[in-house]
Amino acid sequence: MIEDIIRISREAGEIIRQAYGTNFSIEVKSNNIKNLVTEVDKKSEQTIIDFIRKKYPSHGILAEEGGETKSTSGYLWVIDPLDGTTNFAHGLPIFSVSIGVQYKDETIAGVVYDVMRDVIYSAEKGSGSFENGKRIFVNPNESIEESLLVTGFPYNVAENPEKVFERFIEMLKVARAVRRLGSAAIDFCYVANGVFDGFWEVHLHPWDICAGKLIVEEAGGKVTDFNGNPISIFNKTILSTNGKIHNKMIELLNRV
Ligand code: IPD
Ligand code: CA
Ligand code: CA
Repeated sequence: MIEDIIRISREAGEIIRQAYGTNFSIEVKSNNIKNLVTEVDKKSEQTIIDFIRKKYPSHGILAEEGGETKSTSGYLWVIDPLDGTTNFAHGLPIFSVSIGVQYKDETIAGVVYDVMRDVIYSAEKGSGSFENGKRIFVNPNESIEESLLVTGFPYNVAENPEKVFERFIEMLKVARAVRRLGSAAIDFCYVANGVFDGFWEVHLHPWDICAGKLIVEEAGGKVTDFNGNPISIFNKTILSTNGKIHNKMIELLNRV
């Protein structure tokens, strides 16, 4: 199955890459000018769904742009057809396709395709994580002061939900640096390959989390809520680290 997920992620990525920088249509979602969807998000999603319906017709689907198929098979494909739409729409080449597959509520496989770098991150439960086929591991760094962290902000950031501003300031003060890339799926993968030591965000969706969480865990990292509790893909608050700085980040996140 992992080969199929990789193949369809690449195919969707190819559609996105070809459309990058062209005159695609852009709409605003939920009446919020910060929240965009393009015709390319929809085309990518349709391509992935058509593939699943043909090859795995009994499987369930949960996809960001509305594609939902109920199923009793136990299998659920969780899809973000274009993670990083704001970047894509503005011409910043950081965005991905993210596809996770669950069986009976457990993620068994995940793929994130970093479209413009042409890099596939993949993991199967119990078999490790890979970057273009090469095994990857989280960074063994134990020092928060020497950490490179990443975060993201939800589209209702102006309301300062979950004290996102205060938490950001705490991290900025203590860590070596904090980045904001604009694709949660890529943020997870950069924790998995050791570039980032930690990633936190609130108000995420299952399609932002599903593949990336497995990829971090299979690379030796940890994904919990801000109190260190295990999460499902339906939790909205995530803390993902190399494991070594996890407790320190929990302490900082809860300082505010
Ligand atoms: C967004 C990106 C971004 C994160 C937002 C997500 P989208 O996904 O992952 O990094 O900060 O919370 O909604 O809308 O580009 O698929
Ligand atoms: Ca997303
Ligand atoms: Ca998306």
